[in-house]
Amino acid sequence: MEKSGPEKLYLKTKDHNFTNLIYHIMKNRLKKLGSFVVLFSGLIGFSQTNLEVNVDKSLTKIQPTMYGIFFEDINFAADGGIYPELIKNRSFEFQLGLMGWLQPNSDRHSFNNESGLAQLVKYSDSTGNHNYIKINIKNAAGYELINEGFRGIGVKEGEKYRLSFKTANKNIGKINFQLIAPNGTVVGEKSVSLNSSEWKEYESQIIPSKTAEKAILKITFEGTGEILMDMISLFPVDTYKGRKNGMRKDLALLLEDMDPGFLRFPGGCIVEGRTLEQRYQWKKTVGPIENRELLINRWNEEFAHKLTPDYFQTFGLGYFEYFQLAEDMGAEPLPILSVGIACQFNTGELVPMEDLDPYVQDALDLVEFANGPVDSFWGKIRNEMGHPEPFNMRYIGVGNEQWGPEYIERYIEFEKAIKKKYPNMIIISGSGPFPEGDYFEYGWQELEKLNAEIIDEHYYKSPEWFRENATRYDSYDRNGPKVFAGEYAAQSVAIASPDNKNNWETALSEAAFMTGLERNADVVHLTSYAPLMAHKEGWQWTPDLIWFDNLGSYGTPNYYVQKLFSTNSGTDLISVTKDGAALTGQEELYASAVKDQIKKEVIVKLVNTSGKVQEINLNFKGGNLGSKGTLLTLNNKDLQAENSLESPKNISPVESPVQLRNKNVKLELPAYSLTVVKLRMN
Ligand code: AHR
Repeated sequence: MEKSGPEKLYLKTKDHNFTNLIYHIMKNRLKKLGSFVVLFSGLIGFSQTNLEVNVDKSLTKIQPTMYGIFFEDINFAADGGIYPELIKNRSFEFQLGLMGWLQPNSDRHSFNNESGLAQLVKYSDSTGNHNYIKINIKNAAGYELINEGFRGIGVKEGEKYRLSFKTANKNIGKINFQLIAPNGTVVGEKSVSLNSSEWKEYESQIIPSKTAEKAILKITFEGTGEILMDMISLFPVDTYKGRKNGMRKDLALLLEDMDPGFLRFPGGCIVEGRTLEQRYQWKKTVGPIENRELLINRWNEEFAHKLTPDYFQTFGLGYFEYFQLAEDMGAEPLPILSVGIACQFNTGELVPMEDLDPYVQDALDLVEFANGPVDSFWGKIRNEMGHPEPFNMRYIGVGNEQWGPEYIERYIEFEKAIKKKYPNMIIISGSGPFPEGDYFEYGWQELEKLNAEIIDEHYYKSPEWFRENATRYDSYDRNGPKVFAGEYAAQSVAIASPDNKNNWETALSEAAFMTGLERNADVVHLTSYAPLMAHKEGWQWTPDLIWFDNLGSYGTPNYYVQKLFSTNSGTDLISVTKDGAALTGQEELYASAVKDQIKKEVIVKLVNTSGKVQEINLNFKGGNLGSKGTLLTLNNKDLQAENSLESPKNISPVESPVQLRNKNVKLELPAYSLTVVKLRMN
């Protein structure tokens, strides 16, 4: 697919030496010769590829967890994203306590401030809510307090928004809230009368008269004197599953539509933190929302190309909400915990072995929080949060992208303690950030010795790598640890390059690779694309599965590839072969097949990565199949094509009928396509 001259190849070759250059030129020539043979055979009429699908024989079970979701608060995925609080820094806890808030008519530097001024008051060290603001209003007509939202506040005409805030005051009679569009139009407003000099929470609603993607919230006051304010919040009422202050509906529905087998949370590197102090500590993310201790988001200044110094984790989306989201989507919850090593790409800070206990205890307590009885310490907290029933957590991840002996020695302590108390808990260990090389080899070797159950592998590689690695798991030990392909995505330019695109070439290459994951379902038990989501203006890392702005969202071509696999995952792997061999890139074709014993379907996935139409005959052996089937086709002639907010379905599955005749289905696979063939089993 990729046209590359020797010079380009030379530049692309990691190891810039002459032998490598010759190797790549020869490989390229052989590939071209191969294409010529295919083209020639096509001209003389041998272009049809005959594939045999053996319906009767189940090769292995497909795990219900095979296709899942990796969630990390990167790219404004949580705050500013699926957690749809519209007020940035609602409780004045950001490092700069008034970040996100503007007072256009106030001058902090002038002693004689004539309109009024808000000041931060630090009142508590003991809870997560340390600050509130004290506003001294001198001239009610002149003073304004404005919140800028997360790259603006997105509101929709006619929708309800819940407005809430806490305040204490003696002299202010009323607070006016106005949503103002960039052109100055007031698109929604509400006045709330105050009736208490003590701290009190007020709740009201705003229903905008117009849609605005980037409104601001302007607050003005009636009266003069001092007023204290905290937890100023604006939330859509219409959330996923109608939960009060729950998840943003369009984004959660995109996830639900994938029918995910699991939800991995909360990341990613965010688990580890750039320092140990900045690691994700689940205990600080449960209980009353206003008491959850805010944390800097480790992605805020990670990339010079995308600085987001206003990126913090409020933990409105905390561990309870993650478990609930998993439950709402029918997915297994899969939390990943810090193993006592901060991100090794940053500081690599290590907790000494003799101080590891609290980290291990966090893991044990988490199981109690998720599954424990309501009279246990942590089960009680879950109950108080509204969920007396257990969340039935069955998996726990220990460490994210750790490597080296430091990881293994810490992992062993976690494993010992978890298995002792919860022998049935399935532990996910990690093999580091790369899918090959010293860290990877060492991690696998040591974890295999420990009889690790499931090992997490990550690959952020070129589209070509994905196409060439469809056989990656063919040679894995069938009796060794199982694999969690926990983070992967084809990078169109380079790993985490800001120029990476979610184009069709990346998605198609992932589809080719995924046939290999599926064909190896006896080894590969869980898989997930990463990262999951990105705000159009707030992102740090691209590519991402889903993109959104303050009002809308769309699935990328990669999303539709994931969705086609996960909603057609089947229950049993069956074989699809050409001359007895799996299709792993011969003539740029890839295939995998499953049957679904519950839905009574046979499903074949076919990927054509070539630029030409390919004729296929699928011959079904065994099974009592219905003659009418369905084709789901995802294709585009342009490998650079993408979806966008303006054209969200540019590349999305198209459904058409297909006919089974004499146990055969004849197909013309479009150039650059993923085709899913579905037949009913009677
Ligand atoms: O998905 C983005 C990051 O990539 C994850 O946080 C990390 O695990 C990986 O390096």
